[in-house]
Amino acid sequence: MAEKTASNAPLLIFDSGVGGLSVLRAVRALMPYAPVVYAADNAALPYGNKTEAQIASRVPALLGRMVERFHPRLVTIACNTASTIALPAVREALELPVVGTVPAIKPAAAMTRSGVIGLLGTEATIRQGYVDRLEAEFAQGKMLLRHAAPELVSAAEVRLRGQPIDPAMIARAVAGLRNQPGGERIDTVVLACTHFPLIEDELAAGFGPGVSFVDGAQGIARRIEFLTLGEEWARNGADFAVFTREGSDVDALAPALRDYGLERSMIL
Ligand code: DGL
Repeated sequence: MAEKTASNAPLLIFDSGVGGLSVLRAVRALMPYAPVVYAADNAALPYGNKTEAQIASRVPALLGRMVERFHPRLVTIACNTASTIALPAVREALELPVVGTVPAIKPAAAMTRSGVIGLLGTEATIRQGYVDRLEAEFAQGKMLLRHAAPELVSAAEVRLRGQPIDPAMIARAVAGLRNQPGGERIDTVVLACTHFPLIEDELAAGFGPGVSFVDGAQGIARRIEFLTLGEEWARNGADFAVFTREGSDVDALAPALRDYGLERSMIL
């Protein structure tokens, strides 16, 4: 008989940095009763400039250690870069449900009126065959313009530490899509990096009116709810965040983490 899940077993939500908080936000809204461990591999941030081999070897091993330590009921890779590269390997390595993050090309294709979709992600994400397959399957007859915007990862990290974002970073990301042939007709932008919804207001201002943004957070939250349906939940005390490297930049995140119900942080 399958072992019963402990009612205080958390959901483990994993990203390279603060990006997964955009997924946690959706999870909190749908499942306020769920205990959460938020894990950030800040020692290796950013993932976007790593090779496929680096990510494929690091992420399954790290998640294996985290599962041994925190005994989650389910793992969510709240990172497009890690998911598009390492999801099958993580599923193979862990004996529990794993939810990944998929660039939201399918909903974007349903939303666009102009037929031109922009996609912002990391360098590693936008070159993945996984994205090519999503485009072929769901965006046939549409134009999908991709742009790598690694600077926006730093912008989101800075923003969550309560500091202002350099507007030039936003302008460069907007220009990276708008200046491609057909870019002026973009009416829907896929935020294919979990950091980017954290600066959606700035991006919306940068693109101007008539552009909608879509990301995977709500779909992920619904998937987690579905996979844990009927389980018992006890959220005792405060949730916490785990980092792979300590530093003053981690301390600076404390107020933002508290806003997401993460009262303490620790180093793995
Ligand atoms: N948040 C991550 C993603 O969704 C990547 C950020 C990074 O580490 O480069 O792709």
